[in-house]
Amino acid sequence: MKNTTIPIVTLDGPGGSGKGTVSLILATQLGWHMLDSGALYRGLALAAHRHNVSLDNETALATLAAHLDVQFKPLPDLSVTQVILEGQDVSRALRSEACGTAASQIATIPAVRQALLARQRAFLNAPGLVADGRDMGTVVFPSALIKIFLTASIEERAKRRYKQLINIGIDAKLPTLITEIAERDQRDSTRNIAPLMAADDANIIDTTGVFIDNVVASILSVIRKELSVVNMHT
Ligand code: DC
Repeated sequence: MKNTTIPIVTLDGPGGSGKGTVSLILATQLGWHMLDSGALYRGLALAAHRHNVSLDNETALATLAAHLDVQFKPLPDLSVTQVILEGQDVSRALRSEACGTAASQIATIPAVRQALLARQRAFLNAPGLVADGRDMGTVVFPSALIKIFLTASIEERAKRRYKQLINIGIDAKLPTLITEIAERDQRDSTRNIAPLMAADDANIIDTTGVFIDNVVASILSVIRKELSVVNMHT
């Protein structure tokens, strides 16, 4: 059953499919809250590194996840959300591909996912939520009003990631990124728990070669259509 009390838009898809950028624009335009669930997994991976917790120590990782001291602070112009981990701005450190890989590794642990579940659901507040991740539409918000699954070719996703990294001053090499992203896709989509996949009722959008503004426009038209159907019945 779709939950229409507080509208939720879920955006799932592999790394570089445009989820992060699209979510931020949508949340800003709609004036809704935003959940970047990948940043929670990345923050946990960084906290583990800083506390010398090994990435295969499931018990210690689950405890760390349950007590993770992380906050999201949108900047006044809403163009970026700062991530504050244990009092320190880690927004840039979180973006490295090494951090993404570590996040993908710990994301295979059921106790870690369970510990982060309530925390993700707590982002649901009026007037609405845009939730970005891998399992937003399948596990975290299965009754979301609107579900989007973004994809793009691996070459295009790696090029986007390359540009993002270079823009924030992180060194990157395109062939290495293609390999790392392909490995991460494989791990994320074949894990036993909450794998990366489109929900049965998701709108699948291939963003290869499509300008971001056009992706946003087509998602906004899906949102408006769904919201008008809800309003007609309330
Ligand atoms: O979206 P991202 O690149 O910031 O995510 C980093 C990793 O975190 C991703 O490779 C897998 C994991 N992740 C997850 O398992 N479930 C989510 N909802 C979000 C991210």
